[in-house]
Amino acid sequence: MRDVLEQLEERRQDARMGGGADRIAKQHAKGKLTARERIELLLDEGSFEEYDMFVAHRCTDFGMEQQKPAGDGVVTGWGTINGRMTYVFSQDFTVFGGSLSETHAQKICKIMDMALQNGAPVIGLNDSGGARIQEGVASLAGYADVFLRNVKASGVVPQISLIMGPCAGGAVYSPAMTDFIFMVEDSSYMFVTGPDVVKTVTNEIVTAEELGGARTHTTKSSVADGSFENDVIALEQMRRFFDYLPLNARDGAPVRPFHDDANRIENSLDTLIPDNPNQPYDMREVILKISDESDFFEVKANFAKNMLTGFIRLEGRTVGVVANQPMVLAGCLDIDSARKAARFVRFCDAFDIPLLTLVDVPGFLPGVSQEYNGIITHGAKLLFAFAQATVPMVTVITRKAYGGAYDVMASKHIGADVNYAWPTSEIAVMGAKGATEILYRSELGDPDKIAARTKEYEDRFANPFVAAERGFIDEVIMPHSTRRRVCRAFAALRNKRVEMPYKKHDNIPL
Ligand code: HXC
Repeated sequence: MRDVLEQLEERRQDARMGGGADRIAKQHAKGKLTARERIELLLDEGSFEEYDMFVAHRCTDFGMEQQKPAGDGVVTGWGTINGRMTYVFSQDFTVFGGSLSETHAQKICKIMDMALQNGAPVIGLNDSGGARIQEGVASLAGYADVFLRNVKASGVVPQISLIMGPCAGGAVYSPAMTDFIFMVEDSSYMFVTGPDVVKTVTNEIVTAEELGGARTHTTKSSVADGSFENDVIALEQMRRFFDYLPLNARDGAPVRPFHDDANRIENSLDTLIPDNPNQPYDMREVILKISDESDFFEVKANFAKNMLTGFIRLEGRTVGVVANQPMVLAGCLDIDSARKAARFVRFCDAFDIPLLTLVDVPGFLPGVSQEYNGIITHGAKLLFAFAQATVPMVTVITRKAYGGAYDVMASKHIGADVNYAWPTSEIAVMGAKGATEILYRSELGDPDKIAARTKEYEDRFANPFVAAERGFIDEVIMPHSTRRRVCRAFAALRNKRVEMPYKKHDNIPL
């Protein structure tokens, strides 16, 4: 009996060594942790239950039958993060470069199936040279099996990808279909075709980092939702992020203990809006002052900075925030910001996370490039996403809410439940100057007349009361009481239930 126990321990020890001490040393030399070290940091201590530790590939080509490392390049199982369950897979670059074989894919599929059945998220730690070259089409089939499960799981359980090494070729499409992608700076990259192929085909010379590193994907392509300095910080932040998410679509957003008074008054908000309507202020300040303990997990912070998206808690409950940022492009809606916010709204709605929308928007960004690139379709995404959402929605207009953008930014008309406005709000078809120039074109030669007309327009429309008179705004509130009002509004909406008419699925303007 003892022999058998010892043998098991030996086999386990062997499996834990992955591709061996030399390759582990190489991994460390690159500043990267091993697949198992990453899982240890991600999950609560001692909570990891591993599956399929002894699975080996079945390939017999290219002498592969001589090397059959236990586990086949991916560590899979489940564990907990602050006591809440998640499934996890972590690709082991020390085994055939973490490349995906038929059996490697089967291991990932197994935990994805369990996650779907048992209603727990899937976190993928990606570090892989792509398709296992020795296995050819069997590997491609394995990828497709994973892709199918990504789609089936979408909207059922949250899926998070952390890219911690190479992720190239068709392999990028599994993370791309998950809810969030985060990357580690300087050691990870994602691209469909690498620098060599790019040079051959388009004659462009570019490094892997420039083509698909963390900076590229968080600032230019918006493929990634955020990036972190190194493995350790990335895994710590994944734990923080996970705490905001429900386990599945039926579970509801988690409630955490909180140490902040829901009635807290923030007098500084009364003076935040500058007297000059063209002067910017930082909407992030409003978010931090409203949220529990000023905690804000921002998503896509470095892309389309004219729109802020991310998670806060109110009375311990997760709330998704969408907010115009007047500091960038005056908070205009454009293609990038509309896409960014639309995807965020859809995630929150899919997983029952209430939405708080903070509005200061002068309209859609004008321009040939915006029109040619489809601002109509992309703007419609955000409109569609808000209009379709059935989660509790609270909107606060802080300053401008002009034109179509007023409708789009979670107005009452498209389904928001409680709409507040600060007294500094201007809810109108457009700003006073633009409106006067159109209405009184014949008087443009007379600056005094135009100034009087502008003043007349401002007095009549540059305020929240016209909308409030019609009930489009439920109440004009004091900025200092925003946290209290918003907390109470969400509390009143906790049992909100909406029935939607039958449909197979919608046809959002993709
Ligand atoms: C099998 C692989 C492998 C792969 C790496 N290795 N990639 N084995 N299949 N795809 C092995 C190497 O042979 C090596 O084995 C070990 O992993 C580490 O690789 P190195 O090259 O030494 O590491 P490094 O210098 O860090 O370079 C990493 C790399 C490079 C950039 C990822 O290995 C690479 O370019 N690999 C090929 C990438 C690729 O073309 N994959 C197919 C993409 S197409 P030893 O024994 O020496 O440790 C694809 C299609 C997916 O993925 C389609 C889905 C639909």
